[in-house]
Amino acid sequence: MTIKDFIPSKYTHQIQQGKVTYKAPSNIALVKYWGKKADQIPANPSISFTLDACATTTTISYSKMNAKSNDFSFELLFDGEPKDDFRPKIEIFFSRIEPYLPFLKEFYLKIETSNSFPHSSGIASSASGMAALALGLMHIEKEINPAITDEHFNRKASFLARLGSGSACRSVEGDLIQWGSHNGTEGSSDLYAIKYPYAVHKVFQKYHDTILLVDKGQKQVSSTIGHKLMHNHPFAEQRFDQAHENLSKLKSILASGNLNDFIRIVESEALTLHAMMMTSIPYFILMKPNTLEIINRIWAFRASSGTHLCFTLDAGANVHVLYPENEKEVVYQFIKDELVAFCEKGQYICDRIGFGAKKV
Ligand code: PMV
Repeated sequence: MTIKDFIPSKYTHQIQQGKVTYKAPSNIALVKYWGKKADQIPANPSISFTLDACATTTTISYSKMNAKSNDFSFELLFDGEPKDDFRPKIEIFFSRIEPYLPFLKEFYLKIETSNSFPHSSGIASSASGMAALALGLMHIEKEINPAITDEHFNRKASFLARLGSGSACRSVEGDLIQWGSHNGTEGSSDLYAIKYPYAVHKVFQKYHDTILLVDKGQKQVSSTIGHKLMHNHPFAEQRFDQAHENLSKLKSILASGNLNDFIRIVESEALTLHAMMMTSIPYFILMKPNTLEIINRIWAFRASSGTHLCFTLDAGANVHVLYPENEKEVVYQFIKDELVAFCEKGQYICDRIGFGAKKV
């Protein structure tokens, strides 16, 4: 598919108003996306677990205006309060997606959004937020063009969400989602994410992700800047090749359920992501001392207990502890006994692999 396939040819129905609510989850990458080309095209393919508990719920109330306006007409409420500092991001998003949703300037949109996870927890809400918004907009498009298939609906929602925040395209469906062209993955695309199309061992069903909130403050360096620093990065090309190789290697690991090999790739990906930050120019560090303390304790506990917990990181100091369902009691006990002490105000979130966004 090309971007032209996302430009609607004509709308068949007229609507005046309506209301729709979508709840979209966050996701955690196993192979990381870090570095992008123009128009939110990823520099390398990535794969993620869709989460379940960490989610954004967005309601769009839409009403047709008498005439098409020159600007986007919308109001934005976050937890019931007007949120003007989010407006510029939404304006940019709308201008990027307008070619694909030409009805946008014909409607007044009231957008009400809230997150399930604590405000300023250091967990990015851009993935779940942009996915929920894109799905709501796709609902409007389907009202005026009911011929849209479910497959096209999800694919276009992912395509639109990507234009809001890259990793958001992996938050439409579940449970294992791949984004970015990869030779070994049939149907993969830079334009949208797909459900991982190959066999996945049952050990990965109900996988747990306990998110340890190490630092809830604002990050010193945003993802947008971090992605940009991959241009002219001394190790960029090797890193992009490595992501392709890791995805290829994961194919047999995901099929066989070999957790030791899974851990080696997932932890290496997390540390490589942060190594890219530390070796870009200018360089920066998002991990905190407690991030390293937690990693060391995970390694020590894994060696002594023979369990298969591992960690991954996103672009911040928080640690995602991943572990299989059949080890949940012993690992969760360890987390409470040894790791929670390193979280800011002892805060953490128990999440697990989920199955994608839902209309509420
Ligand atoms: O979607 P963005 O632009 O916020 O970038 C997310 C990048 C990582 O979370 C660090 C990795 C990933 O693949 O999700």
